[in-house]
Amino acid sequence: MNQNQQQVVSRKRVTDHGEVFTAQREVNAMLDLVKQETERIDSRFLEPACGTGNFLAEVLERKLQVVQTRYHNCQLEYERYAVSAVSSIYGIDILEDNVIECRNRLFNIFSKQYDGLYKKAVKENCKSSIKYILDNNIICGDALTLKTVGDNPQPIIFPEWSPVNGSMIKRRDFTFHGLLEHEHIKGLPLFSDLGEDVFIPEPVKEHPLIHFLELGAK
Ligand SMILES: C[S@@+](CC[C@H](N)C(=O)[O-])C[C@H]1O[C@@H](n2cnc3c(N)ncnc32)[C@H](O)[C@@H]1O
Repeated sequence: MNQNQQQVVSRKRVTDHGEVFTAQREVNAMLDLVKQETERIDSRFLEPACGTGNFLAEVLERKLQVVQTRYHNCQLEYERYAVSAVSSIYGIDILEDNVIECRNRLFNIFSKQYDGLYKKAVKENCKSSIKYILDNNIICGDALTLKTVGDNPQPIIFPEWSPVNGSMIKRRDFTFHGLLEHEHIKGLPLFSDLGEDVFIPEPVKEHPLIHFLELGAK
């Protein structure tokens, strides 16, 4: 949230959807509790009621600061790591206007930095890839039913974007429901540093390898 944004848009939206945005100071204080993760470029963040993206925007700012510091001297490296930073950020909100604003906001954070660094050398296909990823990662859905919003609700799908051999991307799709299954059914953790068994979710779709600058051309 920028400093001038109100925390409440309307009383009706508060009543209907509990929409009260978090102020920047609290966002920073909370993210500082996991500071190291917010500065790890490919660290995954999911906010299941993301609003217009107050937390996700700050996470992206922090990750891109690291990308800029480390890779600004090589445009292709910068682009690869910026795509990695964006592609590991996920959000859900039940209100479509919030989802659209969140996607635009995250795109503009990237675009402002990218334009500032490379000016006339910026690549439109890189921007298209970022837009494409955001369209797939920031979803209009109900985080309680785990389904999309609309006339024909479908299970929420999250793509996993993994870099392969530098410039290629492997996309695998998972249902949100499937990712949460481990908590209810299998009793196994999703991650472990201790070497015990972990739950490995099954993708519902695997996509062919694609160059990271071609994602938006599909
Ligand atoms: C308290 S606001 C928080 C927004 C943002 N996380 C922040 O901290 O600024 C709650 C958000 O959850 C959304 N929301 C309410 N019910 C939801 C649901 N069942 N699934 C997904 N989003 C929901 C609202 O539209 C609203 O944007």
